[in-house]
Amino acid sequence: MCGIVGYEGTREACDILIDALSRLEYRGYDSAGIALLGQGAIHIERRKGKVEELRKILDGASLKGSIGLAHTRWATHGAPSEKNAHPHRAGDVVVVHNGIIENYLALKERLKKGGHVFVSDTDTEVIPHLITDYAQKGGSFVDSVRLALKELKGSWAVGILKESERTLVAAKNESPLIVGVGDGEYFIASDIPAIINRTDRFIFLEDNDMAIFRGRDMRIINVEGEDVVREVRQVRWSTEMAEKGGYSHFMLKEIFEQPRAISDTLLGRTREEEGDVEFEGVVLPDLAAVRKIWMVACGTSHHACMIGKHMIETNLRIPVETDMASEFRYRNPIMLPGDLFIAVSQSGETADTIAAMREARSRGASTLSVCNVLGSTLAREADNVIFTHAGPEIGVASTKAFTTQISVMFLLTLHIGRRLGILGRHDVRERLREIRAIPRKVRSVLDAAPSIRAAAGRYMSFRDFLFLGRGINFPTALEGALKLKEISYIHAEAYAAGEMKHGPIALIDDGMPVVCVSPADRTYKKTCGNMEEAMARKGNIILISDDGTHEMAARAAEVITVPSAAYELQPILSIVPLQLLAYYIADLLGTDVDQPRNLAKSVTVE
Ligand code: G6P
Repeated sequence: MCGIVGYEGTREACDILIDALSRLEYRGYDSAGIALLGQGAIHIERRKGKVEELRKILDGASLKGSIGLAHTRWATHGAPSEKNAHPHRAGDVVVVHNGIIENYLALKERLKKGGHVFVSDTDTEVIPHLITDYAQKGGSFVDSVRLALKELKGSWAVGILKESERTLVAAKNESPLIVGVGDGEYFIASDIPAIINRTDRFIFLEDNDMAIFRGRDMRIINVEGEDVVREVRQVRWSTEMAEKGGYSHFMLKEIFEQPRAISDTLLGRTREEEGDVEFEGVVLPDLAAVRKIWMVACGTSHHACMIGKHMIETNLRIPVETDMASEFRYRNPIMLPGDLFIAVSQSGETADTIAAMREARSRGASTLSVCNVLGSTLAREADNVIFTHAGPEIGVASTKAFTTQISVMFLLTLHIGRRLGILGRHDVRERLREIRAIPRKVRSVLDAAPSIRAAAGRYMSFRDFLFLGRGINFPTALEGALKLKEISYIHAEAYAAGEMKHGPIALIDDGMPVVCVSPADRTYKKTCGNMEEAMARKGNIILISDDGTHEMAARAAEVITVPSAAYELQPILSIVPLQLLAYYIADLLGTDVDQPRNLAKSVTVE
């Protein structure tokens, strides 16, 4: 999704903005642009393609200016091109925007009738025109911005620069935007990693906030014109956490960070002595009255929800309904007041998940979010929040966020189980021992990376993959297939193993590898039967299992053996080799692993 950065201070803004913009590249984009205000006029440069293309023209230009905005665009309205790239300008007002203006056509028609001339196909361009329109009617700059924003329907995070007044405005509604507070300087950004090397103090703007930067001063008002006070919060992510640290890609680094990330998820939450789990600041509602738990998310986070459902239903016998946020919102879900709604999201900014949580709240549910990003919308809006503490995840394909989400769900199951008296102290103590061992076990899976890389070399030229799993392993199969298609562009689909015979078996031949996620759990024998069926049709089996001695292992084309863990935790160990397999295949194919085509890290539009 689009990325916004801005600077107002005493230093030259150009390099600061380009550096920050390159740190936002992971969000996914197709063009980039910058606006710099020096002593004279605003200078704008835009290019289709990578930030590097923009950097090249700026390198020779030695542009001066200590106020500026820059942007990476992920096309929604209008093709990726220079004319559609941001910033967009009308009069002396320049705008960068993330989100979608739903009523832009009506606004554009009205503005055109008033003499405004549009040069792009974007929805964004209506914003600077609307602001200048109000200004032409006599409004001050800030009032014109306020009135313009009040007219917009949809989602926006905007950076607005006014040439004649040397004033920068940052405003948001349903799209993320943060302010970084430096010494005598301010930064704005869509996300923390963009500016974590500049400051560790942040203000998380709330919907309808407008931060106004003028002559080194900042004031925050809302779109009604009232002053608002927002806390400056310290974020303890280090610069190194948002850099590659010697790995060839963020994704690989993040895969290898999983042992540490999971340990951090557990940190300070487990009470071995008491056989309990506590989450700081989390007070769940009257759990005995909860008739149903809902777990709703998108993408990888949705797969984590499916695993969470198995954990809670198996251990606590409370019904759990999972759904994709985009489906949940529009299906008139039957929720009862007091139901517990859990929104799961790495970024905390996924538009559909936010909307789903708002929908659930309006139907009387109590809300809990499981998020990775401090200060994100889901973290702020939920009644309770549990952070995954995975550290910044930059690779578009989610890895450590997934395994830390599963870890949180395991802890949450124990927490609820103890509160309801379903799980005893001894029980929980035992399970805490199991999850404590997981980081070490993940490390041992990572040690097998060279052999997984070799396997990737043998399978990189296949164009279709089938992933199978049963029970709690089915979401792992879905996630493994998702990883492969996201970054290698190879067609991969996942099926519940028992469903294979109802369709996908028709596709199986020696050109379609079948990845079976099949640890020796209660579904093992049944999945072995499905592997037989696939092998009978010349399917090459790639088996992921904790049982390397089974005769199936001897007959599979490839076996990746992982350590054994408790039923609910086995997905963490099974997914790691699938993350690596996808990574190495993509790397061998030479795709853009961290920023795969068409994908965005944080999907802030519906
Ligand atoms: C995008 C990302 C996925 C992610 C999904 C949900 O599609 O590319 O990696 O799983 O959004 O994101 P969230 O931040 O809500 O977990």
